[in-house]
Amino acid sequence: MLRSVSPVLYFLLVVSAHVTVAAKGIPRRRLKLADDEASRAASESRDNSVEWRQSGGLEPGEPAAAFTVPTLSGEFVYLPGAAASAEVSVLIHAFTNKSAFLECLWSSSASLASLVEELPASAQVLFLSLDDSAATDALWMRERLHVAAKKHGQEEVLSRLHVSPVPVFAVGNWIAGVLYSWACAGHNCGLAQAVFTSQGWDVPVIVKRLDARYDWLTGRWATTRYELRDAGDGCEPSPSVDGAVAWLSEGNCSFFAKVQNMAKSNASGVLVSALPGNAIRDMNCVGAECFAPLSLPAAMVHLQPAVTHALRSGVDVNVSFQTTPSPNFFIAIDQQGALAEMGWFLYPSFSFINWQAQWFDFSAALQLKLESPATVLPVFDKVQMQSDKGAVADVNIPPDLSAFDTLMLDASLSCPGSRDASCPRWDHTVRLFVCCDRLGPYCHVELGRWITAFRRGIGRWQTDVSPLLPVLDAGVCRFTMKTAPWAMPWVVSLNLRFSVANLTGEKLRPFRVMSLYDGGTFDKTYNRRYPPIEFPVPASTKKVELYAVITGHGSDDNGCAEFCVTSHHFLVNGVHNNTRSFDSAGSALGCAEHAKEGAVPNEHGTWLYGRGGWCDGLQVDPWRLDVTTQLEVSGQASNTIRYLGLFNGKDPDPTQQPGYIVMSSFLVFFK
Ligand SMILES: *[C@@H]1O[C@H](CO)[C@@H](O)[C@H](O)[C@H]1NC(C)=O
Ligand SMILES: *[C@@H]1O[C@H](CO)[C@@H](O)[C@H](O)[C@H]1NC(C)=O
Ligand SMILES: *[C@@H]1O[C@H](CO)[C@@H](O)[C@H](O)[C@H]1NC(C)=O
Ligand SMILES: *[C@@H]1O[C@H](CO)[C@@H](O)[C@H](O)[C@H]1NC(C)=O
Ligand SMILES: *[C@@H]1O[C@H](CO)[C@@H](O)[C@H](O)[C@H]1NC(C)=O
Ligand SMILES: *[C@@H]1O[C@H](CO)[C@@H](O)[C@H](O)[C@H]1NC(C)=O
Repeated sequence: MLRSVSPVLYFLLVVSAHVTVAAKGIPRRRLKLADDEASRAASESRDNSVEWRQSGGLEPGEPAAAFTVPTLSGEFVYLPGAAASAEVSVLIHAFTNKSAFLECLWSSSASLASLVEELPASAQVLFLSLDDSAATDALWMRERLHVAAKKHGQEEVLSRLHVSPVPVFAVGNWIAGVLYSWACAGHNCGLAQAVFTSQGWDVPVIVKRLDARYDWLTGRWATTRYELRDAGDGCEPSPSVDGAVAWLSEGNCSFFAKVQNMAKSNASGVLVSALPGNAIRDMNCVGAECFAPLSLPAAMVHLQPAVTHALRSGVDVNVSFQTTPSPNFFIAIDQQGALAEMGWFLYPSFSFINWQAQWFDFSAALQLKLESPATVLPVFDKVQMQSDKGAVADVNIPPDLSAFDTLMLDASLSCPGSRDASCPRWDHTVRLFVCCDRLGPYCHVELGRWITAFRRGIGRWQTDVSPLLPVLDAGVCRFTMKTAPWAMPWVVSLNLRFSVANLTGEKLRPFRVMSLYDGGTFDKTYNRRYPPIEFPVPASTKKVELYAVITGHGSDDNGCAEFCVTSHHFLVNGVHNNTRSFDSAGSALGCAEHAKEGAVPNEHGTWLYGRGGWCDGLQVDPWRLDVTTQLEVSGQASNTIRYLGLFNGKDPDPTQQPGYIVMSSFLVFFK
C-alpha cells in the first residue's frame, strides 16, 4: 500500500479524464511520417536481424519491490501486496534540466494544466531529479505544480503528486537501476544538443535543444556540420542564410513564419533562440499554418551571447547536432504492482502520463472482467505470429456450445523480448479467421480484428463477438491469426470465453449468420461492386442484427481511407439507411481519447490521431445494430439490403494511390 504524510492520499476526488480535442483536419503529411510500405518493410526486416538483449536487471512486467523515498512533505512509501496498492498506479518521473524536452514539459502551462486536470484518480506520481540540483529542482517542481493546481482549481490533485529532493543517484533503491538500465532513444529520451564551434573559441559551446514538434516539419538534422548565419528575428526572408542554418531570435512572428521565411531563403535549417528569461518552447504550427508543407529541420535553444556576438562580428560559427544518451525519464508501476515502460512522449506534455495512467485503469478493469465466470477455451498461448502463415491452431470445440449466448475474444499481443524495443515498429492489421467445416458456409469467417501498436507490447483486449457464435460448430475448428507477412513477429495469446449473459427478460441466441459484403479498393468504382442482396428472414427468427467490422486504410490524395471521414450505409428495403461514419478520422487526438478503452498509449508512432474506424493498439469493435423492425419477417417475404461506402457523402474519386476498406459484414438471425 501507499503511505504518505498527506492524510488525504486515499480520499480522492475523481478527476474528469476528458481530453481536449484539437481542431479537426490534421494535414495529411503530418499524419504519416512519410514512409511508404516498401521502406517500412525494409526497416522491419532490418529490425528482425537485431538481437534484443536484456540487461539481467529488472525488466518490464516484473514485480516492483517495496521502496521508500523522502519527499518534500514526508516520505513516499510503496508496499506491494497490500490491498490498497491494487487500485493504485505509480508513475515515476526523473527530471533533468539538461534536457530541453523536460524543461519545456515543466514550463508549458498547457502541459501542467493537463496534469492537474486530467490525472486519473488512481494514479500517484513521484517526481525525482537526476541532478546535483535535486533539492532546488524539487522546490521548483513543487512550485510549478502548486501554481498550476491553484490556477485550475485542482488543489486536491496535489495529494497524489509527490516531489523528492533526493537525487536519483542517491535514492538507494531499485528505481535508479531501472531508470539507468531502461535508457532509451527517440522522443522524450536522450539529451538533444546543438554544438557550436568558432575559430576564436578553445572549446565548443554545447547546449540543449528541443526540435520542432515531430509532425509539422518533415526535415531532420543531418550528422554534418552546418554553417550558422544570423538572420535577426526571421520575420522576413534573408538571402544571407542560403545553404546555412539560420540563427533567429524568438518573437515578433510565429515559429511557422520564421521557418517559412528561412525556407524561402534556402536555409538548411533554423535555430530559434529563446528571448532572455524565457524557457524553451515546443515549436509548433497553429491552425491554417499547419497545411503549408515545410521540410526544414528546426529547433529551439537558449540564447547564446557568444554565438550572437561572433556572428555579428563577422566571425564564422558552425553548428552540428548530437543526442547524448540519458537514463529513462519515465517508468511506472501498474495497478498489479508490475514494472512498466511508459513509451514515447511525442511532444512535451504531461498528457502522456495521463494516457498511460488511464490505460492502467483500463488494464485493471480488464483483469477484473477476466475473472468473471466463463468457459475458457485456449486457442493461442504465447504463439509467435509471423510470415504468410501467421499463427495457426486446431481447437476442439465442445458439443455443448448451445448453452452459451456470449462469446468474448480475450486477445493479447506482446513481443519477443520484455522491452518495447523488441516489438514491431509499424502498425499492422491483425485478422483472426476460423473454419470449422471446410465445406460449410462459414469457413474462413473473420472472427476478430485488431490493429497492432507501434512498438509497444502491452496490448490486451476483450471483444464481444457473440453474434458470430453460429460459425463455431462442435468439432475441430482451425483458427488462423495473421498480420502483414513482412512484419516482425508478434507473440499472440487468445482465449475464447463462453458465457451466459445475465439478462433479465427473454434470452435470444444467434442461430444463423448471413454474409453480406467485403471491402475493397476505395476508388470511383467502389460502390458499383456491391449489388443489392435479396433474402427471406428464416422461420422462427425473433431478432435480426446487422454486424459489421469496417476499417479504412491507405492514403489517397484525400488521406482516404485511414485519415479521411468515410461513411458506410446499409440500406434496408430501400428506406432504412443504417449509417456508420468515422467522424474522428484525421482528428488530432481521436485515438488518444481511447487510451481509457484500451488503446495502447504512448506508442512509437502517430497513435494519437483519429483513424477510419480503428486505432493503433486496439481491437476493432464490431458495429451492431438491431434491424428487426426494418424487415418483413413473415413467411417467405423478400427483403433487400444494399451497401454504399462514401467519402464526404459522395463516391470516392481519388486522383492517386486509392486506399481500401477492409470489411466483414453480416446479418445475424436470433431466436
Ligand atoms: C533550466 O535551464 C535554463 C537554461 O539554462 C535556466 O534558465 C532555468 O532556470 C533552469 N531551470 C531550472 C529549474 O533549473
Ligand atoms: C566550419 O565548417 C567548415 C566546413 O566543414 C570548415 O571548413 C570550417 O573550418 C569550420 N569552421 C569552424 C570554425 O569550425
Ligand atoms: C522585433 O521587432 C522590433 C521592431 O522591428 C525590433 O526592434 C526587435 O529587435 C525585434 N525583436 C527581435 C527579437 O528581433
Ligand atoms: C533559392 O534557390 C533557388 C534555386 O537554387 C534560387 O532560384 C533562388 O534564387 C534562391 N533564393 C534565395 C533567396 O537565395
Ligand atoms: C444478475 O444481474 C443482477 C442485476 O445486475 C444482479 O443483481 C444479479 O446478482 C446477477 N445474477 C448473477 C447470477 O450474476
Ligand atoms: C444514406 O445517408 C447518407 C448520409 O446521410 C446519404 O449520403 C446517402 O445518400 C443515403 N443513402 C440512401 C440510399 O438514402
